[in-house]
Amino acid sequence: MAWRPRDFKEKPRRRLTHPARPAIYRRVSPIKRHFFVCQTRRPEGDKPSCGAQGAELIYSRLLEALDRRPELGRDVAVTACGCLGECYDGPLIVVYPEGTWYAKVKPDDVPEIVEKHMIGGQPVERLRFKREVGS
Ligand code: FES
Repeated sequence: MAWRPRDFKEKPRRRLTHPARPAIYRRVSPIKRHFFVCQTRRPEGDKPSCGAQGAELIYSRLLEALDRRPELGRDVAVTACGCLGECYDGPLIVVYPEGTWYAKVKPDDVPEIVEKHMIGGQPVERLRFKREVGS
């Protein structure tokens, strides 16, 4: 037996999870892929914004694609989001959990994103956001 101070009392270990938690997790459908589409729209003459470059149509087409494929409903989510900070390269989409960034996406790119990434799980390489060195 290891040495312990004389008045040391074994405290009961704090529970890290509530006993009911596993049941809750079972009820919640885990999303495997979450597409965030920037929807920020700035007035003309201001800094560029995704919303002013067709992001709303991209978002609605992604939602339509999800509606047409109910089998994806448990695994994939599409959510509108605010500015992602790379406004000059918009419209932008970010996909989690892998953290894939798409830049300069056009509404016509949506079917390819749906087929390859949403369904196939492989990012569309030609649309990936490539940050310029030094920027
Ligand atoms: S407005 Fe879309 S990234 Fe800034």
